Amino acid sequence: MTSTPLPTTGPVITGLGAIDRGAGRVAADAKRMINARADVNQLLPLKYGWAWEKYLAACSNHWMPTEVSMQADIALWRSPDGLTSDERLLLTRNLGFFATAESLVANNVVLAVYRHLTNPECRQYLLRQAFEEAVHTHTFQYVCESLGLDEGELFNMYREVPSITDKDAWALQHTRHLADPGFTTGTPDADRAFLRDLVAFYVVFEGMWFYTGFAQILSLGRRNKMVGIAEQYQYILRDESIHLNFGIDCINQIRTENPHLWTPAFADEIRGMLGEACELEITYARDTLPHGVLGLTADACAQYMRFITDRRAHQIGLAPLFGETDNPFPWMSEAIDLKKEKNFFETRVIDYRTGGALDWD
Ligand SMILES: [Fe+2]
Ligand SMILES: [Fe+2]
Repeated sequence: MTSTPLPTTGPVITGLGAIDRGAGRVAADAKRMINARADVNQLLPLKYGWAWEKYLAACSNHWMPTEVSMQADIALWRSPDGLTSDERLLLTRNLGFFATAESLVANNVVLAVYRHLTNPECRQYLLRQAFEEAVHTHTFQYVCESLGLDEGELFNMYREVPSITDKDAWALQHTRHLADPGFTTGTPDADRAFLRDLVAFYVVFEGMWFYTGFAQILSLGRRNKMVGIAEQYQYILRDESIHLNFGIDCINQIRTENPHLWTPAFADEIRGMLGEACELEITYARDTLPHGVLGLTADACAQYMRFITDRRAHQIGLAPLFGETDNPFPWMSEAIDLKKEKNFFETRVIDYRTGGALDWD
């Protein structure tokens, strides 16, 4: 059977258009990341195996924050000598950033990215990612409730602490117009706007800013402090490393399919975005760690951010910005390579796989 392209205008690309009764069947070759003419409602035949593999991997990683015991954290938080004032500031600023950051990422996935990605296997992954972002937001609700934190302070920090506001506002400028009902991809300017959004959220938000946040909390956990939150952050990190790699694969695939978009001037612009994002994170690190805590300083976070920025640049085919070769938190690579954490992670994964049988009565 021959493959007949569908019209590309109007809501057809979103999947909500009228059904084309006379169209031919979709061939995998007709699928595209953006601006596809192939019917977006047909998962099979698969074209992008990497997207489907990530969907399967994400489903194998299911977890819920309420499974993690908070007893040790509650005792430490309530004990007058349990944490120093600098450690309390670090913890609340860190939680305050994440508490709303997960919602910003979820809004971008659901309201902007999903609408413009015209590939069903990528959309399948996005649906899973959207649920995971809800689980992550749930984590911060659970932590807030368990420790008896001031929810107004935590969930307003993105408006009230300038270094957090600056990060969120920077990312939002790249997503706002994509959610406009009048915005469609299909011109070089619009397609580049979509790429900028993918960079802002997958590479910067999830791939750079979240990583310094993870390093801060896992550093406390390594000193046996707030171990429940640290365990939850390990689960979030496991999810986010797939989100990041999905975003990088999307960016690189769009670039391969649309080489005209990735001009030298555009590559320079994207490098500039990574540089700005690095600076924003360093300012936030100084607000979060004004005096440093044991094993963690704002300078070390800045060095880690430069190291990560160069790594992300490399992953999307850009030259390094800083040439930073020393990772001040080498233990983070072990935390990221979760297969090494055998007894920590795999038991739960197996619990879910075997515990999935339903009782119907
Ligand atoms: Fe998340
Ligand atoms: Fe994420």
